[in-house]
Amino acid sequence: MITGVRPTGFLTIGNYLGAIKPLLESAEDGTAVFVADLHGLTDADPSTVAKYRLEVVRDYLALGVDSSRFYLYLQSAIGRETALCASYLSPLMSVAELLRVPTLKDKVKGGGPESANVALLNYPILMAADIFLQQASLVPVGEDQLAHLEVARVLATRFNRLYGHDGSRVLIEPKPLALKSLRILSLNGEGKMSKSNPAGAIFLTDSSAVVSKKIKSAVTALPGEMNPNLESLFLIGTLLSENDETRTKFEEFMTNHLAGEKVMGYFKNLLIEVVNRFLDLFQRERKLYSNEDILEILEEGKDKAREKARSVLSDMERAMGF
Ligand code: TYM
Repeated sequence: MITGVRPTGFLTIGNYLGAIKPLLESAEDGTAVFVADLHGLTDADPSTVAKYRLEVVRDYLALGVDSSRFYLYLQSAIGRETALCASYLSPLMSVAELLRVPTLKDKVKGGGPESANVALLNYPILMAADIFLQQASLVPVGEDQLAHLEVARVLATRFNRLYGHDGSRVLIEPKPLALKSLRILSLNGEGKMSKSNPAGAIFLTDSSAVVSKKIKSAVTALPGEMNPNLESLFLIGTLLSENDETRTKFEEFMTNHLAGEKVMGYFKNLLIEVVNRFLDLFQRERKLYSNEDILEILEEGKDKAREKARSVLSDMERAMGF
């Protein structure tokens, strides 16, 4: 398994629920957990990425990513291997195919491909390289990354078909971990919860007062009605609940709401309580890791990641006859 996050800001509850929680629930020892700092350069300036990359490692550790079971590293620490792998993959895909990737379409919005930088176009190829180099077959990701995983699958299939002698598989075709990936929505109703829309996102570093304010003004539905925003709030509540009793309370609120009762105020109060309890624990845990601890963990992780990456690159080169 492998998981990665771009260090373009502090992590959100969406990052945790979409990618990190599923990883922690099913990962085996030896899983790769990395910070996608090269991917961060597609739409953030280098100094921002440099500022947040150690913070993201601190977030991972505080969330329970145990460095004795998993190896943590910065993508840039094996940047040469990653770039080389991406170079070997690039000829296997056309520009037209990359232009059809929905995330690119979303990012350029009205601007058209003329306004997209080349890094944005190459994004899925670089992501495929991350996955192949660590020989991951399962990738816990939120729904927004499924199209990128599909590109990786296509690339692996093409590479194996072209260069896998006697039907051997040089690259592993990766799959999403969950049958149904999560999509946590923005609190203020505009698309998915993301670091780039801070008002609609709950950051893991938010104070309890900020969380309370954001949830109180979150979009819900009229009594008797359901919509994707309320469903998403309900998911946040049940997934962060520490026990069955709290989960049952959320379910009761939903039943009563659908029956036409006015319970949104109570529902939000419980949600605030549950989110703040989770964040409080996380924030206390976060303070336990010094920069020195983090650098040491990354140094160890880099060695392991590089060793794997070099071995995969040699397999690729041998297969390609290059
Ligand atoms: P990034 O930094 O955008 O997000 C990190 C992970 O969090 C998930 N996520 C969400 N899940 C549910 N609801 C949301 N609102 C939400 N917001 C974010 C994302 O789906 C993602 O799993 N391209 C990746 C980083 C990456 C990567 C990789 C991941 C680079 N190479 C190789 C896995 C394997 C990204 O931009 O993540």
